[in-house]
Amino acid sequence: MSYHQRMQEKVAILGARSNLRILALETSCDETAAAVVEDGRRVLSNVVYSQIDLHTLYGGVVPEIASRAHVEKVGPVAQLALSEAGLDMEALDAVAVTAGPGLVGALLVGVSYAKGLAFALDKPLIAVNHIEGHICANYLTWPELEPPFLCLVVSGGHSHLMRVEVDGRYRLIGCTQDDAAGEAFDKAARVLGLAYPGGPRLDALAEEGDAARFALPTPHTQGRYDYSFSGLKTAFINLTHQMKQKGQELPAADLAASFRRAVVDQLVDRAMLAAAELGETRLALAGGVAANRLLRRQLQAACDQRGMALYLPELKYCGDNAAMIGAAAFLRLKHGHVADMALNANPALRLV
Ligand code: KG4
Ligand code: ZN
Repeated sequence: MSYHQRMQEKVAILGARSNLRILALETSCDETAAAVVEDGRRVLSNVVYSQIDLHTLYGGVVPEIASRAHVEKVGPVAQLALSEAGLDMEALDAVAVTAGPGLVGALLVGVSYAKGLAFALDKPLIAVNHIEGHICANYLTWPELEPPFLCLVVSGGHSHLMRVEVDGRYRLIGCTQDDAAGEAFDKAARVLGLAYPGGPRLDALAEEGDAARFALPTPHTQGRYDYSFSGLKTAFINLTHQMKQKGQELPAADLAASFRRAVVDQLVDRAMLAAAELGETRLALAGGVAANRLLRRQLQAACDQRGMALYLPELKYCGDNAAMIGAAAFLRLKHGHVADMALNANPALRLV
């Protein structure tokens, strides 16, 4: 019997069991992460090695450097996740890994390591979509949360409004027509001279600024629930250029606050419009930008006003981590999805 056939049988048996322990790996960008998650909701360990220091010098993620660092760290990080969970490899029920989307060279490191480990242990290999991982981070913080719910996914590469359906499928309600919200934050931060990663720094700076000082445009999009950030970005660049040309010193905190408000207003307004028109009662937030302070506050206020339940992931599960991959892998396993040794990294993997 082939590995794949054996694992299909194993997964069918595992699907009916409880206390399933999955070792999950995440190497899609600049974090080398491993975690052990039980039944998709209980985090037994969560190790994240951030490569930020390696990339700061270059002002952004250098794919080749990211891949090399993953190669060095993936083994030690996986071992640490196991020892912090108090388990040896034999105690695992499955190995999960992010298969995409992300940087191909970075993804390949995790995928190759997970394939080798799963094959050597003769345990099932589960391929996870990174975006599904971000959404499932909410299950770690809110063990009682069950679909259906609306989810605003905002990260460095994605700005999606999705509906998480009862059957585990995802429906796209709206998405960005151009840049992602995280990308826009990073670009604006760079214009203000903030170091990489700019999004969190701009957020911190904005806390001290006057958000009403500069008016920035609200874009028109094709779909009612779609997003667009590139016009906003250009307007922001032009505004700062004009100030520099006039020899003015940039009022960085006010600029940061004004930009953040424009991005957050758009995110919140359209998510709430969709929620109202589609009759949704529950909204979750996901992705790196879910850490944004104003976004969290404004969504909370909007949901309170409408009597909607809001689910915010804990800060440690907003940015890239492997616990969220373990949460998503559990759902894949329950649906009988098992990968085989032909699994490849897919930098453009889609969720819908
Ligand atoms: O989900 P993530 O860690 O990686 C991707 O899957 O893309 O998201 C990273 C993005 C970056 O663009 C980063 O600047 C942004 O999330 N980010 C923030 C904040 N924290 C992280 N943006 C705004 N405010 C924050 N507090
Ligand atoms: Zn991410």
